[in-house]
Amino acid sequence: MLTKQVEKALNDQIRVEAESSQVYLSMASWAEVKGLEGIAQFMYKHSDEERMHMLKLIKYVNERGGHAIVTDLSAPKTEYGSFQKLFQELYEHEIFVSNQINELVHVTLQEKDYATHNFLQWYVAEQIEEEALARTILDKIKLIGNDKGGLYLFDRDVQQITVDSAASDTGV
Ligand code: FEO
Repeated sequence: MLTKQVEKALNDQIRVEAESSQVYLSMASWAEVKGLEGIAQFMYKHSDEERMHMLKLIKYVNERGGHAIVTDLSAPKTEYGSFQKLFQELYEHEIFVSNQINELVHVTLQEKDYATHNFLQWYVAEQIEEEALARTILDKIKLIGNDKGGLYLFDRDVQQITVDSAASDTGV
């Protein structure tokens, strides 16, 4: 059984993951309209992953005798300025999510809920990988600078930059 505090904290995280999915969906749509097809596909995929993170939490809360709450969501931005800014925002958003996960883990310790603490280790590991992925992409973007040919190649190749390849790049 979940304590009320843990249930609330998990429900807050369900909302964070749902909003993350919407943010990346909006980024995907922006990129698609700009003709950045590879970046758009990358963001659509990322949006799906966030939905998966949300669903995993919903199922966990309900399995443990809580009630996962599906709420309204804040609308994401619709304009992102440039592809550089887009990925900078992705990185900052993942840092935000990591902080939220850390807070949530903290609540489970306060409540002595070691089962939920254990369940959340998957999210802790996932955040390390997602931050590494975002940093790898930002490093590549810095190399491109304002070179149009570089952007063309980046857009073509970004779909291949996966969490696994980022982890091997950074030695994680
Ligand atoms: Fe669900 Fe990108 O963290």
